[in-house]
Amino acid sequence: PLYKSMFGLSELEEKLRAAFGLKQVLIVQGDSETSVQTKRELGRAACQVLRATIRPSDVVAVTGGTTLSHVANQLAPTASMKDIWFVPARGGLGESLDYQANTLASTMAKRTGGHYRLLHVPDHLGEEAFASLMQEPNIKEIVSVIRSARIVVHGIGDAMVMARRRKLEHDVVEAMKADGALAEAFGFYFDRSGSVVHKMQTVGLRLEDIVNTECVIGVAGGAGKGEAIAAVMRFGHNDVLVTDEAAALEIVSLL
Ligand code: G3H
Repeated sequence: PLYKSMFGLSELEEKLRAAFGLKQVLIVQGDSETSVQTKRELGRAACQVLRATIRPSDVVAVTGGTTLSHVANQLAPTASMKDIWFVPARGGLGESLDYQANTLASTMAKRTGGHYRLLHVPDHLGEEAFASLMQEPNIKEIVSVIRSARIVVHGIGDAMVMARRRKLEHDVVEAMKADGALAEAFGFYFDRSGSVVHKMQTVGLRLEDIVNTECVIGVAGGAGKGEAIAAVMRFGHNDVLVTDEAAALEIVSLL
């Protein structure tokens, strides 16, 4: 293919790896925004990374989204994945059922022969409901499993796209916009420099848990997500980025 022979994806991978201080960057050819085939490849590449990273009895926390569903649906049973626990990274964020973290965690477990635990908390929690839920022994227990995750696999979205998809209130969206929200990952919204400007009220991984997670794997592609991906990489706690050529070229143009 033309691009590969002209520039070399590995050169681009190294450029991004060095720019954000990552351990590994994997770039698949094409643009997953316009090609389902590329999005599938992106998912497959993330499966490869996960297979190589996983250790027996690991807890893997996953987020939702269409990209992560391509990861979940391409996992295959391997001996190394047998005793793995898949859990949602956080509680409900307002995604439709097919793309919820709970759904994807259970799909991953079923496809690999691993185990899963679900986190049943409503979306858009108010302060009081949040506080009382956090007192529930069952919730406390699953949350402690989630916080023990050694690996987090997450999608990245454009802030405004995600806010719309999750039907956030108009006032909240306007406030976020004013604060410069560009990106969304794990229910946290980030500005250009990677600072968190808004968090969705739900249980599960806190920012400090993500900061302390041994292996954080971001999976996102498409030219339109370039800025958002760069913002989350500037947050600075990813170890691995799996992306596509279109997003990578966009990110490089922002460096
Ligand atoms: O956190 C970001 C979203 O999960 C990304 O969703 O993969 O459907 O674009 P997407």
